[in-house]
Amino acid sequence: MKYEIKCVGVLTSGGDAPGMNAAIRAVTRTAIFNGIRVKAIYRGYKGLITNEIVEFQTQNVSNIIQQGGTILKTARCMEFMTPEGRKLAYENMRNAEIDALVVIGGDGTFTGARIFAQEFNVPIIGLPGTIDNDLSGTDTTIGYDTALNTIIQSVDKIRDTATSHERLFFIEVMGRDAGFLALNSALASGAEAAIIPERETQVDQLEELIRNGFRKSKNSSIVIVAESEITGGANGLAKRMREEHPEYDVRVTILGHIQRGGSPTAQDRILASRMGVAAIDALMDEQRSIMIGVVNDEIVHVPFTKAIKDDKPVNAGLLGVLQILSI
Ligand code: F6P
Repeated sequence: MKYEIKCVGVLTSGGDAPGMNAAIRAVTRTAIFNGIRVKAIYRGYKGLITNEIVEFQTQNVSNIIQQGGTILKTARCMEFMTPEGRKLAYENMRNAEIDALVVIGGDGTFTGARIFAQEFNVPIIGLPGTIDNDLSGTDTTIGYDTALNTIIQSVDKIRDTATSHERLFFIEVMGRDAGFLALNSALASGAEAAIIPERETQVDQLEELIRNGFRKSKNSSIVIVAESEITGGANGLAKRMREEHPEYDVRVTILGHIQRGGSPTAQDRILASRMGVAAIDALMDEQRSIMIGVVNDEIVHVPFTKAIKDDKPVNAGLLGVLQILSI
């Protein structure tokens, strides 16, 4: 006989990402459509521990598909990393009559979910919500496309002033330790180069590229740098460039948290909606400890252990494309 799920809890955890609200909406409505009650948990795992749990009806998720951020708030919760914290979370969950969880977040969220599911035999399904796109087993994550679009809009604006002043700009983008945002935003914004942690920084090659650019027709250059200790960040590269080439007028822009905000793109809204429906379907189908992913436009189920493996490769071929197009 199937394990019957009468009530599902939904939470967002870790860094917020545009499209999380669309995912909350899809999870809530699909559950209710299937006769399952929904309890919203505020502030991620912290809200499970502090008992911030509220029953949701369909109207609680009206008018949110277009909103950035997360209506459930989010947090990175240290207490959930302790056995005592998780025990409290489980007790509150059971008192609230929650049988299963849908957790929306990134690798930290799924690491916590995996341990919690194992310790207390809780059915948990994850939805990949992160601008970093760094989860394995899925082509893309909720929020990534919106962040990419935010970045290229900003770079377009910086290019205006870079061209007017004939400057070299190092623009730092987020991604934690992954270069997806940097590489793809560089391609989409027509940047001269992308410096990403997955590839050793070829500063000499970079100089060569920029020198050639300036020598030829270009009067400005844009280099997108992924935040990371490995790349040295935009400030690190700019410092080196200023020391070695004082003739360049170098500027740095760190885009920062602007990349996490804004109304989700159509692509992120559609992705989040599909994944939200797939999460409830998976729970009803007795799937456990998996992340919903999308591969070649098909929904897939990815074990948490694989999703958090930290081995998602960037498409190295894109670096070649970037190089060709930046001559
Ligand atoms: O994981 C999302 C992300 O925005 C990363 O790209 C970035 O390194 C980090 O979160 C920033 O975290 P915080 O908002 O805590 O400063």
